[in-house]
Amino acid sequence: MPNPKIAIIIGSTRATRFADKPAAWLQGVVAGRTDAEYEVLDLRDYPMPFFDEVASNLYAPTQNEVAVRWQQKLAEFDGYVIITAEYNRAPTGVLKNAMDYAYPEWNKKAVAFVGYGSVGAARAVEQLRTVAVELQMAPIRTAVHIQGVDFMGAWQQGAALEDMAHLQPNVTAMLDELTWWTNALKAAREATRADPQAEPVTDEASSAEEATTPA
Ligand SMILES: Cc1cc2nc3c(=O)[nH]c(=O)nc-3n(C[C@H](O)[C@H](O)[C@H](O)COP(=O)(O)O)c2cc1C
Repeated sequence: MPNPKIAIIIGSTRATRFADKPAAWLQGVVAGRTDAEYEVLDLRDYPMPFFDEVASNLYAPTQNEVAVRWQQKLAEFDGYVIITAEYNRAPTGVLKNAMDYAYPEWNKKAVAFVGYGSVGAARAVEQLRTVAVELQMAPIRTAVHIQGVDFMGAWQQGAALEDMAHLQPNVTAMLDELTWWTNALKAAREATRADPQAEPVTDEASSAEEATTPA
């Protein structure tokens, strides 16, 4: 089986964002791995309006051209690492908006999280895991949380994440788990494509959630 493709999504876009530091650090980490192909997706390159479609693209084709480009890009990948800040104990609005702008493209794929902030964006990551479930994704257990003195040092005192060797065991475990789930789900998706009968039957009445139901 060819290597899976994994996107590293940068989840904040403001001009002075910290996000570039964990993104560069993670790119350095994955450069040393041979079990997946990684590509960075920067939400700055997909400036989508606040969600303004008639429905999720599960039900109606998206009209906004940037969002269509975003969906097409997401569809290229088998798994994702989302790098997330924490704004008021939640993910950034721009990240949640980007997640809302796709649906089938996320389905049955694994996702891992790298969070940063005073508590390593732990509260944002927990919310993102819930969002991922509704998108029919498999959020994996291990995350990287750049927190406390590590975050403050890197954010305000010029410390380099590359020098924080204690982050390595977690990022290795996270990427190992992500690769395992990504490969497992890729094989399962391909098996289902070959035999559509293997698709789980969805109880539309009980499982359709407001977020994806047409207005
Ligand atoms: C609107 C706003 C809300 C914030 N809320 C939190 C928070 O709840 N928890 C936290 O750890 N940091 C919080 N911060 C501080 C961020 O962790 C810090 O600004 C970080 O650099 C944001 O990521 P970014 O630079 O990639 O946008 C907040 C920052 C902003 C701008």
